[in-house]
Amino acid sequence: MTGSSPMRIARSRQEARLWRAEAQARGLRTAFVPTMGALHDGHLSLVRLARQHADLVMASIFVNPTQFSASEDFSTYPRKEQRDLELLEAAGCAFTYCPPASEIYPPGDSTRVLVRDLSHMLEGEIRPHFFEGVATVVSRLFIHLTPDAAIFGEKDYQQLLVIRRMTTDLGLPLAIIGGETAREPDGLAMSSRNAYLTASERPKAGAVYRVMTECAERISSGDSIRETCERGRAALLDAGFAAVDYVEARRADTLAPFGSDAAPVGAPGRLLLAARLGQTRLIDNMAFQRR
Ligand code: PAF
Repeated sequence: MTGSSPMRIARSRQEARLWRAEAQARGLRTAFVPTMGALHDGHLSLVRLARQHADLVMASIFVNPTQFSASEDFSTYPRKEQRDLELLEAAGCAFTYCPPASEIYPPGDSTRVLVRDLSHMLEGEIRPHFFEGVATVVSRLFIHLTPDAAIFGEKDYQQLLVIRRMTTDLGLPLAIIGGETAREPDGLAMSSRNAYLTASERPKAGAVYRVMTECAERISSGDSIRETCERGRAALLDAGFAAVDYVEARRADTLAPFGSDAAPVGAPGRLLLAARLGQTRLIDNMAFQRR
């Protein structure tokens, strides 16, 4: 079961627990990278980061129905399991859990995990079902796999904070580690949903990174948060985006708004935005700190 043996694949909780017990018996530390598949280099960079934190890396591939609303893309979400498994193995993953829905949501399932407050702002206002679905599936994956550490991309920054809060509140004995966002040459954050962008939309998508960087720089140098975010919103619409869900500058730890219209000097902040280009919804975020 070292990185050089063939990657093991489990489709049931029982198989996953057996593998995990073997690792534990050998005193090996495990780091876990949960995914919904359709892997890109961003996921693989999380696997590489996981290798720095453990002896063995485990991944999961599970398109989680409870984090999609009825009007979202659950049925069309890209599914490429064979290719994903090959990529995970080549990246040094020792074990991948690919459960059927019934292993995660047994018949009659009626238990949910909700991280209040954090789940209801920003992404949670636009997608009210989303973080409850994420916290529910991730807590179950943690219980099935009992990793020593788990890695989540900073691309989904609010998700990372929700998982950290949940892990602390439930007293789960694992470390949550954030992985830097992997970007295309024009700054577009890598995402499985980028595949939805048409050839004419793709060049416009780079505006997200450009606008976000400009806004973060302005707020860091003391410009008004409200005015800067308004300008960011207008710049995205000018760049051809159909709608902007939010451009917000928040406290980095809780995502609460800063008390006044300016971030206090030195306070760690996060600029977060979500906008729609044609049928594709893009989200991104960036750290800032007022000088
Ligand atoms: O970030 C994702 O891909 C998903 O939200 C996750 C964490 C795998 C839960 O389904």
